[in-house]
Amino acid sequence: MDPTDALALLMSPEGRLDPYPTYERLRAHGPVVQAGPVFYVVTGYAEADAILRDARFGVMDDALRDQFMPGWRESPAVLSISRSMLRTNPPDHSRMRRLAAGAFTPRRIAAMRDVVRAQADELVDAMLAADEPVDFMAAFAYPLPVGVICALLGVPAADRPLFRRWATDLTGVLEPEITADELAVADRGATELRGYFTELVAARRRAPADDLTTALVQAHDGGDRLSGDELLANLIVLLVAGFETTTNLLGNGLVALLEHPRAAAALRERPDLAPAYVDELLRYDSPVQLTSRMSTAPSRYGDVDLPPESWVIVLLGAANRDPRRYPDPARFDPWRAQIAPLSFGAGPHYCLGAALARLEAQVAFPLLLRRLPGLAVAGRPERRVRLTLRGHATLPVSVGREAAPVTVPGTPPGAAGPTP
Ligand code: HEM
Repeated sequence: MDPTDALALLMSPEGRLDPYPTYERLRAHGPVVQAGPVFYVVTGYAEADAILRDARFGVMDDALRDQFMPGWRESPAVLSISRSMLRTNPPDHSRMRRLAAGAFTPRRIAAMRDVVRAQADELVDAMLAADEPVDFMAAFAYPLPVGVICALLGVPAADRPLFRRWATDLTGVLEPEITADELAVADRGATELRGYFTELVAARRRAPADDLTTALVQAHDGGDRLSGDELLANLIVLLVAGFETTTNLLGNGLVALLEHPRAAAALRERPDLAPAYVDELLRYDSPVQLTSRMSTAPSRYGDVDLPPESWVIVLLGAANRDPRRYPDPARFDPWRAQIAPLSFGAGPHYCLGAALARLEAQVAFPLLLRRLPGLAVAGRPERRVRLTLRGHATLPVSVGREAAPVTVPGTPPGAAGPTP
């Protein structure tokens, strides 16, 4: 299959639901392939990592948006994302990123460990009290990250249920292709979120609190350092990036663990293995499958010359399964050496929330396995027909009864493989 057809297949509902076979069809043509006149696709790990760090590549700016997406200024969703750090280049990106990173300190993240554990425990209590089967996405994978990011931003607990639909609607604009109807839905989400954060910002300006929203409001008010539009856009991106992605890590990760019961049993016995497990889960089925860049100068990658103004799709999910980087890449193996997934990107836009997302998953998986040793898929999981943010719409599970931890017969604790 030629690269253009393979790319079309990837964008189709079938390709979105299971992109991995299509990645291999693309990879057969090389780590970087041309799939249209100015259009390139990257499946190689080394090439993806290097392009994301290469200053000759940037995210699409206003001038290019004018060229490729006429009318984008009429879309609240595109406008909102385009004013955030996610879609800006230096010097604006460096200024916003510095301000947000200053508010998003390691101390603030580390202090979230107890909050994460307490919220996860409460959610498991509710799952045990609910009728079977339980939808894991609604009962755990969504409320944990939304609860954590709302606690960080200082969003009142009562308002949390509002965000799931708004965020799901808005993130449609992160897909490589979007229909007019999907854009209208995304615009509705953006308008709701903007209205919500306009009020929250006004409230924090009147009465500052010890939260991320106040820290960003003060960064804005402390001089002309973060414009009003940028403040709202970055608050929205923090909220949306902060849970849609982590929700999918929890859902995709749980499915992988339940499909590998011996590995799950080893993690149940040895929660200290969680960091390596979480990185392998991120690699094995990445919650973010792709990002894109435009080139500003000529470059050469994987024996392919990329002219200026090339539009490059970097397939993070394919790079994570590059056999030149990971032997037997389709195998889930938390004992691999040097797991370094590209799931959080690389270079200047490397995920600001990576430490928080890792923390949530490292707490959640051992806790789920310990408290719910009988956890099992109980029905047909339904995947979202989305490529960029890969995850489940529903994931029915039966939780079993709470019981003492069990060991898989014949598997002494920690003996399921070499220690990572
Ligand atoms: C498993 C969970 C997560 C995954 C897989 C993920 C993935 C990513 C990726 C791939 C990027 C880079 C996009 C690009 O280069 O174009 C990114 C950027 C970003 N992420 Fe995450 N993310 C996760 C969780 C979070 C969390 C919890 C937060 C915030 C609380 C967050 C906030 C951000 C922000 C603000 C950016 C933009 C950074 C910049 O442009 O400088 N993410 N994320």
